[in-house]
Amino acid sequence: MIVLGIESSCDETSVAIVKDGREVLSNVISSQVDIHKIYGGVVPEIASRKHVEVIKYVYNTALKKAKLNIDDVDLIAVTQGPGLVGALLVGLSFAKGLSMSTKIPYIGVNHIEGHICANYITNKSLVPPYLCLVVSGGHTYLVEVLDYKKYKIHGRTIDDACGECFDKVARVLGLPYPGGPKLEARAKQGKKNQYKMPYGEVDGSKYDFTFSGLKSHCINLIHNLKEKTGALNGTQINDICRSFQDAIIEALSTRTLSLAKEKNINIVCMCGGVSANESIRINLKNILKENNIEFYYPDKIYCTDNAAMIASCGYYEYKYNKNISSLDINALPNMEFVV
Ligand code: KG4
Ligand code: ZN
Repeated sequence: MIVLGIESSCDETSVAIVKDGREVLSNVISSQVDIHKIYGGVVPEIASRKHVEVIKYVYNTALKKAKLNIDDVDLIAVTQGPGLVGALLVGLSFAKGLSMSTKIPYIGVNHIEGHICANYITNKSLVPPYLCLVVSGGHTYLVEVLDYKKYKIHGRTIDDACGECFDKVARVLGLPYPGGPKLEARAKQGKKNQYKMPYGEVDGSKYDFTFSGLKSHCINLIHNLKEKTGALNGTQINDICRSFQDAIIEALSTRTLSLAKEKNINIVCMCGGVSANESIRINLKNILKENNIEFYYPDKIYCTDNAAMIASCGYYEYKYNKNISSLDINALPNMEFVV
């Protein structure tokens, strides 16, 4: 089955063509990072306008790269939510128009489920059940994937998302948007244990996450150091990044390992933009390996937002739920992940 995926929930316009949920024939991504960088973060109105400008070109390029034409497509899958409402509406309206004019059925899918499905693209033999750590700019979840399309959430952030915390600390350090990858690069040059970082537990829920305390602590630390010395030097920035990232690694890995052990699950996956972070990958891989747990993650290009993961998600949605969307569905900026 050939699925054409469309993603426009934030600042990437992407169209992909994927065969049977796992084989990517094309995955075209037009990033708006260079525009939003000027403002230090995503400006929703600009994001929507840019999606409108490029979506048709991205769509045509995806078909061309896959050496297919639209008649070869069996299903259109599009991100329905969560995300920025104006940005989502661009992809959704495009999908509806395409479906109306071609009579190809279309299906609205959940962006977070899409991130989980990115693992099927890179890891061809991966099948549920497994545990998945979802760490993106907008979301942080510890999810048990019981089967395709069957999820149980065991942990979630009670405040900021993991990637959001990376971006905010990076911003205060003067690193350009999106800060996650830049912060990782600086952390690689930093010395460990130079700064003490608090990482709080969430009362009464051992698998939930909280990042706001760590974020505030880092911001105060940076401001205090600046007050003393005027500006931070490169070594201070590197060391803060290292200690901050180590605290995140500790928070993610302890919860993931402990849940896998409690549930007797021997496969763990990770997904979302933050899963592109090599230090997090290596640490999780090592800690899980010591406990005889297999660990998978998507290729970097499928960690951050892309339409291939949306096409894969649409394939499984159709295969297992026989779901097709009607033309009156709306964009859902706060779409629930598990209902
Ligand atoms: O999944 P994604 O593309 O968008 C959302 O669905 O939110 O994730 C983007 C997030 C940003 O916060 C970005 O800073 C973070 O992923 N990110 C990273 C790295 N690469 C991207 N965070 C830490 N280390 C990285 N290497
Ligand atoms: Zn995403």
